[in-house]
Parts: sequence; structure tokens; C-alpha cells
Amino acid sequence: MSQFYQAERLALLPPYLFAEIDRVKAEVKAQGKDIISLGIGDPDLPTPDFIIAALCEAAKKPVNHQYPSYVGLLSYRKAVADWYKERFGVVLDPETEVVNLIGSKEGIAHFPLAFVDPGDTVLSPSPGYPVYGSSTGFAGGRVVSMPLLEENDFLPDLDAVSPDDWHKAKMIFVNYPNNPTSAMADRSFFEKLVQKCKEYGVILVHDAAYTEIYFDPNNKPLSILEIDGAKDVAIEFHSLSKTYNMTGWRTGMAVGAAELVKGLGKIKENMDSGCFQAVQEAGIAALKDGEPYAQSFRDVYRERRDGVCAALTKAGIEFREPQASFYVWAKTPAGYTSADFVTKVIRQTGVVLTPGTGFGAPGEGYFRISLTVPTPRLEEAVSRIVAL
Ligand code: MLT
Repeated sequence: MSQFYQAERLALLPPYLFAEIDRVKAEVKAQGKDIISLGIGDPDLPTPDFIIAALCEAAKKPVNHQYPSYVGLLSYRKAVADWYKERFGVVLDPETEVVNLIGSKEGIAHFPLAFVDPGDTVLSPSPGYPVYGSSTGFAGGRVVSMPLLEENDFLPDLDAVSPDDWHKAKMIFVNYPNNPTSAMADRSFFEKLVQKCKEYGVILVHDAAYTEIYFDPNNKPLSILEIDGAKDVAIEFHSLSKTYNMTGWRTGMAVGAAELVKGLGKIKENMDSGCFQAVQEAGIAALKDGEPYAQSFRDVYRERRDGVCAALTKAGIEFREPQASFYVWAKTPAGYTSADFVTKVIRQTGVVLTPGTGFGAPGEGYFRISLTVPTPRLEEAVSRIVAL
């Protein structure tokens, strides 16, 4: 028995979904199975060369070998503001309304420490990205889950949250395009959300990591900051990871209400020393010149989506055709729980899926496919599943 007791906050944590999946994957791989990994949403396509070249140049500058600034280079924050203006028509003050992050996960994980006191209520979608719950728990907050149900097109029913919970809520997490369901939020949902947050004085946290993976240019995902008045109550987390295939680089941004950005910056000053400035300089290049590449990645994901959807249809597996994100949210075949199905699939076929319940109890009956391998491998994965 260990002489060291872990803090209670660790004991309260469920195992981290993607770390668990990695463990089972390693076990099955060690048995010699050919693994097709459709688990984590980690793009397989390479980062564009011009971004790598910008990193190499920036890495040669001695100034970048020293501690970075806590909130990020002003030039990076300006590039973020320019990108938001160009993409969403949103005007941001780079000095006060933008902070650089070591990936959006880092920012989401730290943000509740700035605004949630022990016992505070935080409204969080379920199924949802596991970090919303763990970061709330680390701050001592109480999560009130908002189920994302098919009949509501996987949007939380804001009127189903009790007035008492709205009154007690300090913060609400939302995420569109949604991980794991791939649902999109329309303007009217966001307007209602902003209005509710204003009415009850709730901080609106929007995780917007997937806004650049969309399939209909006439129906592009929105930034919450496009909504009138949102900047009074909202902070939006974004990332270069999914847009430019830069998950390993760890760089992102939080933008929105200056008071919220400042609070997060204060936590970061005390917890980390910022993102390697050479990576920030490469991020500037990506934000400035990355759009044609982002478009070519969308084309790849569209082709993969179409291939998988056709294969699932042929196999009689029900699913939701994504209009955005690189996830397909599909229904577990009758007779299985999500976890049983996913476990059986990986052990017998080497195909790694994500169980719906890994994102919360309302994910029961679903599994998630990540479109982060080439189409032939996706089709091979579906045919292995069908042959089970
Ligand atoms: C996912 O697979 O849900 C995400 O890629 C995980 C992440 O972004 O950290």
C-alpha cells in the first residue's frame, strides 16, 4: 500500500477517456492485430509545409529561446483578432480580448479556476468533452448536466434547466460544432443562450475548436461572438489543432469579454509560462495564410464522411450525417451497451471507436467514429465491424 494518498480531487475523476482507449489499443496491438484507430480526433494529415518553415525560422531566433509572454505575443493576438474579423466579422481588441493558450484544452482546464468557487454550479453538456467536468471538479464546482438528445438535434434544452439551477449557475459550457455528436448550433439557439446568460448573470463558455471543419460553405459554423451582446458574457475557446492539423503543436486562443480573458490570464501567469514563441510565430503564419489549406482538408473530410456514411448505410447502422466536425455519431447495434460494443470491436477487429458513454451517460446507445484515417481504411473498418 502506498504511503501517499492522492488528493480527493483525483479520486473523484473518472479515468481519462482517451488515455483509457490508448491503453486498450496498446494491448490489442501487442497481440499483433492491425489497428485502425478511429478513436481520438487527431488529424492524420500533415501540418502544411509553410507553417513548419515558419516554425524553423522562428526557432532560430534567440529571443524565442527565453520565456514567452504569459498572455502570448501581441503579434499572435493581433493575428487572432484579424482572423476573427475576416472569418466571423467579430472585432476584438488584441490587448484585452485575446489570450494565447497552450491548446484550447489547457485554457478550458484552467478557466474554471478563475471563476468557479467550491460549490458553484456549472451547466455542462452531456455527452460532452470530458475536460468540462474535470476542470469544474478541480475548482470544486458542481456539474449540472444538460443532456444532448437526438429529439433536440443534440442542443441542450435551455428551458429544461430549472430556474433554480439557472439562478445558481456561475458558468455554462457549450460546444458547436459539437464533439461528439457533430451537431451544429444555429443563430436562434445562440441568441437564446446569450439572452439566458444575461438574464441570470451566467458566464457563457463556448468551445469552438471545430468551426473550421464544415461541409456546406453556405452554412458555416458561427462564433458565439457573432451574437449581439455575447461579448458581455462570453468567452470562446479556439485552437489551431483541428483547423491546420496542429494537435501536437499545442497552440490556441481564448477570446471574448475582457474581464473573462483577464481572469484566465491571471491563472495562467501562476500556472504556466506560455507557449513557445516559435510555435506562436508559426501560428501567425497559419492564421494569415492557412485558409486554402483548411479548405483542402475540408474536401478530404467530406470525401471520408461520404465514404463512411455510405458504408454505414449499407451495413444498416444508423448514424447522423455530419455537416461539420470530423466525427460520425452512430447508433450501437441492438443488444449491446456502448462500452460492450466498442470493447468487442477493438478486441476482435482492431478497430478503435469511442463509446458514447465515455462522454457522459446520455451517450449510451451511441459510438463515435473519427474521420482521421484515409477513406479505404475507414471502409475497411466498417467492413470489419459488419463482419463481427
Ligand atoms: C476528441 O477526440 O474528442 C478530441 O480530439 C480530444 C481533444 O481534442 O483533446
